[in-house]
Amino acid sequence: MELPDGTNKNILDLFRLDGRKALITGGAKGLGRVMAQAFAEAGADVAIASRTLSECQATAEALQAQTGRRIYAAALDVTSEETVRTLKADLDQNFGAIDILVNNAGINIRGNIEDMSQADFEAVMGTNVTGSFLCAKVFGPPMSERNWGRIINLGSILSVISMAGRTPYASSKAAVLGLTRTLAMEWATKGVTANAICPGPFATDMNLQLLNDPAKYKAFVEKIPMGRWGELHEIAGAALFLASDAASYVTGTTLFVDGGWTAQ
Ligand SMILES: NC(=O)c1ccc[n+]([C@@H]2O[C@H](COP(=O)([O-])OP(=O)(O)OC[C@H]3O[C@@H](n4cnc5c(N)ncnc54)[C@H](OP(=O)(O)O)[C@@H]3O)[C@@H](O)[C@H]2O)c1
Repeated sequence: MELPDGTNKNILDLFRLDGRKALITGGAKGLGRVMAQAFAEAGADVAIASRTLSECQATAEALQAQTGRRIYAAALDVTSEETVRTLKADLDQNFGAIDILVNNAGINIRGNIEDMSQADFEAVMGTNVTGSFLCAKVFGPPMSERNWGRIINLGSILSVISMAGRTPYASSKAAVLGLTRTLAMEWATKGVTANAICPGPFATDMNLQLLNDPAKYKAFVEKIPMGRWGELHEIAGAALFLASDAASYVTGTTLFVDGGWTAQ
């Protein structure tokens, strides 16, 4: 592959993340942990941060042993601008500037609107939307100053379709796509891309309620053209692509990783 600067690179090298530093919010478990491992295997150093520091530390230790890359654990509540800024200062001092931000931290509170409190609605919006906004606001501008950066926001199939009992989650994940497109516009000429990944159902802690109910589990499977839930590792390729130089002309878009659910 001949590049504009005259160098030649194997296409697979464009997917490597050597020399990059990534921050994955909520990276201690679930999809975030899989993406953290993938980025480290591709050559990046990775910071993972959530409200449960001990969980981040245990995951960091395991991934560092597995991949040989530096994995940094930190505490973070994405709903608080103060803790996001505290994390930025900590990373600047002890880890390095962030090139790749994955806004993965998310929560879901299910229930019909009659039973949904304003506090529950705002908690989901606060984590899924405000949290992604705050992290982009704090970590995006330095990327723009350095003329290279990647922001990946976790949407959902519920960014574009919905089902009963999901007012806060579907509202929040639809908003994540608006946020993504706007960030893409703001930094389009600065080498910073912003894209969303919209997963279908994956077996993580977030979905224990569905996984533990055979009828609900089956109802989900029946809606998926591939006839199965996603395997955790199946999120990694999409994330790595969007984080890498292979996706240098991809911004403001959404990649569905959903077994064909939203194609119907
Ligand atoms: N699994 C799926 O089927 C699926 C489908 C579509 C979209 N998604 C999206 O994918 C992302 C990851 O989901 P997952 O299934 O991997 O969920 P998960 O296993 O429940 O992990 C969520 C992570 O987010 C962290 N988190 C929650 N609130 C936080 C806060 N205020 N500040 C910092 N970290 C916070 C959690 O850690 P603490 O609780 O310790 O803070 C945890 O590490 C979410 O955005 C989710 O909406 C998942």
